[in-house]
Amino acid sequence: MGAITAVLTGLLGSGDHVIAQTCLYGGTYAVLADLAARWGVDVTYVSGTDPEEVRAALRPETRLLYLETLANPTTRVADIPALAAVAAGAGVPVAVDNTFASPLLCRPLDHGADIVVHSATKYLAGHADVLGGIAVFKDAELYGRVRRHAVEQGAATDPFAAWLTLRGMQTLSLRMERQCASAAELAARLEAHPAVEAVRHPALASHPDREIAARLLPGGEAA
Ligand SMILES: Cc1ncc(COP(=O)(O)O)c(C=O)c1O
Repeated sequence: MGAITAVLTGLLGSGDHVIAQTCLYGGTYAVLADLAARWGVDVTYVSGTDPEEVRAALRPETRLLYLETLANPTTRVADIPALAAVAAGAGVPVAVDNTFASPLLCRPLDHGADIVVHSATKYLAGHADVLGGIAVFKDAELYGRVRRHAVEQGAATDPFAAWLTLRGMQTLSLRMERQCASAAELAARLEAHPAVEAVRHPALASHPDREIAARLLPGGEAA
């Protein structure tokens, strides 16, 4: 949340407008709601799958498009390339929370994003012994603006947590392969279970963003 808050407060100010995906991690949603209530930042929520919604939401004061590759907890998949193309046309930077996908399944910078944030607490560190976050920038100017806010907020990873994260990342590819396989197996079995009402996994035929996931998250469906 330190990385996310630094990005949001670094790039948004009073009177600015941000376009964000409706399905977002609750903590991020809370920061946006707080910025709206206390700083007068205006937020327009979009589905994350329709570029025309983003085009219609754009304003002269729009400063950021904020998405999650795989939204927590709904697993909706943002169509990053399609939405980023619209934002780029208007000169609006795109930030993507790639926590759930990890760089193994998706590299948002390759799909038009300008900033990628991760909760390293999850797949990157991988051992449930670290709290941390990372923000990655394509552009040095955006990095400079956000870094200043991260420093002001004290959102700095302590050295031991950074070391643990680097240690964890050495096994990221092995863990992600296994986790994807386990998730696919569980999703298929649970969907067939009579006591289960709904299963949300982007590789299932019942998932609304299956086609986007196949394009954007190759390998994630592996069983
Ligand atoms: C998608 C996503 N982003 C960010 C966060 C925040 O992570 P942290 O708890 O490491 O601050 C979470 C936590 O669940 C998350 O699921």
